[in-house]
Amino acid sequence: MRRSILRAVGGYLPDRIVTNDDLARTLDTSDDWIQERTGIRRRHIAAPDELTSDLAVAAARRALARADLGPDRVDLIIVATSTPDHTFPATATAVQRKLGCGPGIAFDLQAVCAGFAYALATADNFIKAGQASTALVIGAETFSRLLDWTDRGTAVLFGDGAGAVVLTALEQPGTALDQGILATMLAADGRHYAHLQVDGGPSSTGTVGHLRMNGREVFRHAVGELTGAARAVLDAAGLAIDDVDWLVPHQANKRIIDAVGKKLGIAEAKVVVTVAEHANTSAASIPLALDRLYTSGRLDRGDLLLCNAMGGGFAWGAALIRW
Ligand code: ACO
Repeated sequence: MRRSILRAVGGYLPDRIVTNDDLARTLDTSDDWIQERTGIRRRHIAAPDELTSDLAVAAARRALARADLGPDRVDLIIVATSTPDHTFPATATAVQRKLGCGPGIAFDLQAVCAGFAYALATADNFIKAGQASTALVIGAETFSRLLDWTDRGTAVLFGDGAGAVVLTALEQPGTALDQGILATMLAADGRHYAHLQVDGGPSSTGTVGHLRMNGREVFRHAVGELTGAARAVLDAAGLAIDDVDWLVPHQANKRIIDAVGKKLGIAEAKVVVTVAEHANTSAASIPLALDRLYTSGRLDRGDLLLCNAMGGGFAWGAALIRW
């Protein structure tokens, strides 16, 4: 069967680093509180003239170079983002132009923190259907521009960044030993719309708005949905948690990641945790964590990766991938 192979990954974090102590100078918070409740130590913030598409392009260039592919080969670009350069056109078309790609399919996908899981599953389906053969799947965010910097309950949690993967099509036997994406799962439940949202938008207020969150409700649902999504893709592929080499979860909060790891029964050493270094970068967090795993030299071809994510909507999903 035709499968989507993850040929390469790339990540990009803006130069400017803001530590918890930096935030404590203007907010009633502390490094201790933030680290204890979230595991976050610092976040990267985009320069004023740096757009989401610039972050996306930097990550995509690294991924394409590692895949040894030119931009002319890309026939599908999906940018998962909640912070597009403009309301329209799609940031994916800005990426297409800046990378120097020729005509192809390019669009944005909005599933907030679950955006990368949604984009990966969508690209996988395009490839399996034969509608694309080389895809760039990018998660890119400038969440710093959505934050209310006077709200200590949310401002400390997020950061800017981008991550990208290159997918190519490859015929495989069709078993759980295949290379590439073995299973994906997506879901959303709009009854929870109000728990995590931005209080503005083109059709409601005509403004960009600020992020608002009921942190406790998000936490409560996140652990259950992330665990369920992970189990669903393992079941779909006929594999068990012991088969997984790396859990690469959405990087929102160390406590959520720990709780999910515990419920799944996976060894701590197999869980990739990068939230301390870049905080929650929403759709960018899984490919950034994957990039960190790759650059650390610990990821081997054939390793089984389990990725899961959850965020506003609520929307959530998972993917099981053999690297
Ligand atoms: N510094 C110091 N005190 C703070 C801060 C802060 N940055 N933020 C809140 N507090 C205070 C609150 O005001 C409250 O004070 P009070 O008791 O005087 O009223 C106290 O700390 C406890 O507040 P809680 O909200 O109950 O704290 P909690 O232990 O639940 O931690 C947190 C808050 C970290 C937001 C937690 O609920 C959480 O992690 N939720 C998940 C949110 C998340 O990760 N969202 C990301 C997007 S969704 C996703 O990606 C999965």
